[in-house]
Amino acid sequence: MSGDNEHFTYCYGQLKHQQLMLECSARMEKYNAAFLRNMVNYSDKIVMDVGAGTGILSLFALQAGAKKVISVEASRMADYAKRLVQANGYENKCEVIQKKVENVCTEGHQVDVIVSEPIGFLLVHERMLESFVAARDKFLSPSKISRSSMVPNSATVHATLFTDPKLHGEQMNRASLWDSKNFYGVDLSCLKDDAEKENFSQVFIGNVDVDSLLSDQVSSHFIDFTSVSINEIQSFEIPLSVKVNKTGILHGLVCWFDVELIG
Ligand SMILES: C[S@@+](CC[C@H](N)C(=O)[O-])C[C@H]1O[C@@H](n2cnc3c(N)ncnc32)[C@H](O)[C@@H]1O
Repeated sequence: MSGDNEHFTYCYGQLKHQQLMLECSARMEKYNAAFLRNMVNYSDKIVMDVGAGTGILSLFALQAGAKKVISVEASRMADYAKRLVQANGYENKCEVIQKKVENVCTEGHQVDVIVSEPIGFLLVHERMLESFVAARDKFLSPSKISRSSMVPNSATVHATLFTDPKLHGEQMNRASLWDSKNFYGVDLSCLKDDAEKENFSQVFIGNVDVDSLLSDQVSSHFIDFTSVSINEIQSFEIPLSVKVNKTGILHGLVCWFDVELIG
C-alpha cells in the first residue's frame, strides 16, 4: 500500500470526512434518484458496493429491493457501516467486508450489479476508478455485464482553453515572497522564476466561469466502465482540437467531467 493510500484510508475512516460526502446534496440526490428510478435493476439482485464508506449506497440498493448487498470498505469506516446497516434492519441482507476490494476473495462473492462512488478530482484522482473496474473483472461474470450492471456506467472528461486574468494574477502573487532582496538580510530573488514555474506547473482545482472559455468547442474522452481496462484508466490522452472564437490571453487548459449514473 502506498503512503497516499494509507493517508486516504486514514481520512476515510473518520466520520467527519464521510459526513462531507453525505452533506454534498448534489451528489446524494443524483445517486438516490439513480437507485429509485431504476429499482428494477436492483430488485432481487446481488449487489456489490465498492468503497462503501458509511454504506449509504448499500442501503439505497437495499431500499431499491436488492436481495443481498456485499459492502466492501477498506477503512475502519466498515465498522460504522455495519452499525448503520443493523440499525436500519438490513443485517440479514448485507455483508460488510473491511478490505480493499482487490483483496476480497471471489468465492461466494459473484454479483449481478456493482455500485460505487469512485469519483476523484478530474475523475481519476485517488485512483478509485481502477478498484471499481478491478471489481468488475473479479466479481461480475462477462455474461452479466451491461449498462445497468455498473453504476456509474460511464464518464466523459472534457478539455478546452480559458482566459482568467484574475486567477493568473493570484497565482503570480503566490510567488511574490521570492521578489524579496532583503529577507532578514538575504536576497531571495534568484529563486523567483523557479517559484513561479512551480506554482504554474501545479493543477488548480476550483470553479472556472463559463465566460472565461476561449472556445465554444471542447475535446472529450469517453470512458465506458463496462468495458474500459485498468491500463486505459491509468493513462489516456485527449488530443486538443478546438477553434478559438474569443479574444483573450490564453492562461490555461480547463478540464471537467460528466458521470452517467443511470443504466
Ligand atoms: C468517495 S468515498 C465513497 C463512500 C460511499 N460510497 C459514499 O458514496 O458516501 C470512497 C470510499 O471507498 C473506500 N475505498 C477506496 N479504495 C478502496 C478499495 N480499493 N477497496 C475498498 N474500499 C476502498 C474509501 O475508504 C472510502 O470510504
